[in-house]
Amino acid sequence: MKPVLRFIFAAIVFFVGLYLIIFFPLPSVLVIACTIVLVGLHDVTQKEHTILRNFPVIGHFRYLFEGIAPEIHQYFVESDLDGKPLNRIQRRYVYTRAKKAVNTHPFGTEHDLQRENMEWTAHSIYPSPALDEAPRVRIGTEACTQPYEANLLNISAMSYGSLSKNAIMALNKGAAAGKFYHNTGEGGVSDYHRMGGDLVYQIGTGYFGCRDAEGHFSEERFRETADIPEVKMIELKLSQGAKPGHGGMLPAKKNNEEIARIRGLEPWTDVHSPPGHSAFNSPQGLLEFIDRLRTLSGGKPVGFKLCIGREQEFVDICEAIVETGLKPDFITIDGAEGGTGAAPVIFSDHVGMPWENALVFAVNTLRRYALKDDIKVITAGKIIDGFDMFKALCLGADLCNSARGMMLALGCIQALECNLNTCPAGVATNNRAKMRGLVVEDKWVRVMNYHDGTLDDFLDLYRAAGCTSLSDLNRSLVFRQRNNKVEAFADLYPDMAVRETV
Ligand SMILES: Cc1cc2nc3c(=O)[nH]c(=O)nc-3n(C[C@H](O)[C@H](O)[C@H](O)COP(=O)(O)O)c2cc1C
Ligand code: SF4
Repeated sequence: MKPVLRFIFAAIVFFVGLYLIIFFPLPSVLVIACTIVLVGLHDVTQKEHTILRNFPVIGHFRYLFEGIAPEIHQYFVESDLDGKPLNRIQRRYVYTRAKKAVNTHPFGTEHDLQRENMEWTAHSIYPSPALDEAPRVRIGTEACTQPYEANLLNISAMSYGSLSKNAIMALNKGAAAGKFYHNTGEGGVSDYHRMGGDLVYQIGTGYFGCRDAEGHFSEERFRETADIPEVKMIELKLSQGAKPGHGGMLPAKKNNEEIARIRGLEPWTDVHSPPGHSAFNSPQGLLEFIDRLRTLSGGKPVGFKLCIGREQEFVDICEAIVETGLKPDFITIDGAEGGTGAAPVIFSDHVGMPWENALVFAVNTLRRYALKDDIKVITAGKIIDGFDMFKALCLGADLCNSARGMMLALGCIQALECNLNTCPAGVATNNRAKMRGLVVEDKWVRVMNYHDGTLDDFLDLYRAAGCTSLSDLNRSLVFRQRNNKVEAFADLYPDMAVRETV
């Protein structure tokens, strides 16, 4: 039984017991005494739990309180800056934007602006005029015949399977209404992705949606999926921040008949995609594969996503781009603090480069090889509010993706049960009863509102900084408080000069 249900059950037993004791004292005391003796006998004779053997009856309270500790902590103890992975302020930010609630704040900031790691931007005395519409970013190198004009904020990769069908439909409808893209995640394109929103079709090591019977890449299947008109770009996933070097995981509980059919799998089994790709095994192989995908898709932009691990491997890819002239249209940088439906904790905690370092390293390396103008950099990693977007673009990203921000907009309450198929908000589950609570017609509006509100906040900062073009955003605009000093991002991460041989 779930800890919360166990707690409610215990509370009911307690109050019913109290009632019986008051009105039927003698029989009640006898029943209670017998129950305690029986539970105690069971506890001392069972061999599974040491605590219960050593502390019969009373030991149950330990398990009860341990089980509901996260809920007690979130509702009663957690401060605004507590709460992991996303703190209360970040969650509240999304909820207020999603519900279009009052988003102004009275009486001044509640933060200590000189606290460690507080970040801020330098506004200008000469703010720029309001924009008629938000700028968009063109993605597509010269090899691409169907370039795409992308929104500055989009939905990061999350598969149907890790998210419920209602969640996928609401995300896609929100994307259609707000004119931003929806990355399918590595689970392939399902009918629920086809509510009219632009799609980025992601291909992982399991090649879902483009695999043959042996699980290898199939040109024919790929062409069918890439031809879908809503598919505007294709993203080859090399790795994701939460589990780099470890293939995707779909727990058996979530792998129902429908998901298995879409992905070409055996239902109700744990699915572990391989950690690496079978279609290539070198920088040149990767670039040739990307070029092949672009041709097979009829010239749509194709890029790859990774969490940076060994720096030299990224440098080798840049070298190979210069040598072969084969360019990806975009590169998506995911930080090691990225989210997931399910991952081994040791990978989430200890593998891969954190977001800020990874983004700066990738941007600097592309600039060094004079590739940054052609190859767009997309990034994800706890980009929740307008300032996060502003900082990402100042560091050198061209546009942003958000996964968990969009989940919160769908109603996620950070219960952290995405891997158990018990998500209470109906977001990360295929349990029908739970999913029912997520009403698509209500939630797509929230996805769109959250997107639009966050983009508006970004544009307000952009104007306050006096920017008139996205290229005005740079590292001299962002600062951080550290060790009682102001750290300028421009000094911390100096721009990389183009290397001399280019
Ligand atoms: C439930 C869930 C499922 C995800 N599935 C994928 C996936 O299929 N492919 C992928 O590249 N990243 C996947 N991610 C990672 C996100 O796309 C994103 O890169 C990461 O969570 C960082 O963004 P965030 O901080 O906005 O969540 C998933 C994340 C979550 C939370
Ligand atoms: S509410 Fe659902 S989606 Fe959100 S963290 Fe919990 S289980 Fe995951």
